[in-house]
Amino acid sequence: MLAMDYRGPYRVRVTDKPMPRIEHPRDAVVRVTRSCICGSDLHLYHGMVPDCRVGTTFGHEFTGIVEELGEDVTNLKVGDHVLVPFNIACGQCHFCKQGLFGNCHESNPQATAVAGIYGYSHTAGGYDGGQAQYVRVPYADFGPTVIPDWMDPDDAVLLTDVVPTGYQAAEMGGIQKGDTVLVLGAGPVGLLAARSAWLFGAGRVIVIDHVDYRLEFARTYCPAEVYNFKELDDVVVFMKKTTDGLGVDVAIDAVGGDAKGNFLQTLFGTKLKLEAGNAIPAHWAINSVKKGGIVSIVGVYGPTGNMVPLGNVVNKGLTIRANQASVKRLVPRLIEHVREGRLDPKAIITHRVPLEEVADAYHIFMSKLDNCIKPVLLPNG
Ligand SMILES: NC(=O)c1ccc[n+]([C@@H]2O[C@H](COP(=O)([O-])OP(=O)(O)OC[C@H]3O[C@@H](n4cnc5c(N)ncnc54)[C@H](O)[C@@H]3O)[C@@H](O)[C@H]2O)c1
Ligand SMILES: [Zn+2]
Ligand SMILES: [Zn+2]
Repeated sequence: MLAMDYRGPYRVRVTDKPMPRIEHPRDAVVRVTRSCICGSDLHLYHGMVPDCRVGTTFGHEFTGIVEELGEDVTNLKVGDHVLVPFNIACGQCHFCKQGLFGNCHESNPQATAVAGIYGYSHTAGGYDGGQAQYVRVPYADFGPTVIPDWMDPDDAVLLTDVVPTGYQAAEMGGIQKGDTVLVLGAGPVGLLAARSAWLFGAGRVIVIDHVDYRLEFARTYCPAEVYNFKELDDVVVFMKKTTDGLGVDVAIDAVGGDAKGNFLQTLFGTKLKLEAGNAIPAHWAINSVKKGGIVSIVGVYGPTGNMVPLGNVVNKGLTIRANQASVKRLVPRLIEHVREGRLDPKAIITHRVPLEEVADAYHIFMSKLDNCIKPVLLPNG
């Protein structure tokens, strides 16, 4: 079968790989119908994620047709079209029982923090991902959801990650009616976080980025007030000024360690890798939020050593909430939001690319060419 193949930083290609097979009674094998490229894949692509081995197939956002089932999977049948959460979760452990599917204790023997994630290096379990014609789905009796007949598969594939992640970012913000919510990042996750903020009762939503076409999209799609941080003298001072000197009620970091902006953070975090990514979005979030406010972080950072102003968190009495999204917990609610037209995920899809052109797709998405917001790979035509 054809599969995306990581050869090292900035080098991906398509290669012929062995077909995945059932390795455990709870497995399924799925023929992929759609597979997105995510901002999280860019951390891998940039060589920021430890133990990302040559030969890994990325892809944690995919839908597919069930081809084969292990004997313990009785809730699916061959031919079902399913959406598969990016978290690999057993559904039974201490953390899964709390709905913390992004922190499953069984699916990632390499770490005690994050659950297994498809195609996300050996630090996330070493599973191959869905940027391929076929993929093995562990715990298939728990993770996949059959796509409802009425649902557009383009909407369904976005329910595997960016919609639940954006929605959970807003949920973790504990938004109260009328709150001013700042979202850092106008990528797919930030767009969905900003759009979801209204569903939780926000009164004002502000989105910050430095890519103008994404900000323009955010202005109408979310909809939100938008600002290019390169045109602001100081993001934090601006946020204070626009909120009567108080600061925003909730700040959401939907950027993570590949952030731009701030020379020192770029030098230490991105160039020298002395900290685990450029933490300027977390910095801006902590300093822009009002005293007693909430900072919600879904942008991905490396686990150790980030320069964030912890003293300000203490002295301002902030609450910080963060996690990988618990996709499976949110899917039923998000299906309802899509059905009722309150969320319109597929509007963010800008590019549909055959798997054979995966290298171009990564380049376009990373370099923000051709007004790219969300590319979808089509591995089977
Ligand atoms: N927690 C989770 O479950 C989860 C799931 C999916 C993605 N993520 C993470 O969310 C983040 C965003 O994902 P995405 O797919 O939207 O990525 P993306 O790369 O498409 O978007 C990130 C956006 O942030 C902008 N940006 C860069 N520096 C900034 C700064 N200092 N301030 C404001 N904006 C800045 C970029 O221009 C870009 O538009 C990534 O870190 C990704 O790994 C987390
Ligand atoms: Zn993703
Ligand atoms: Zn579990």
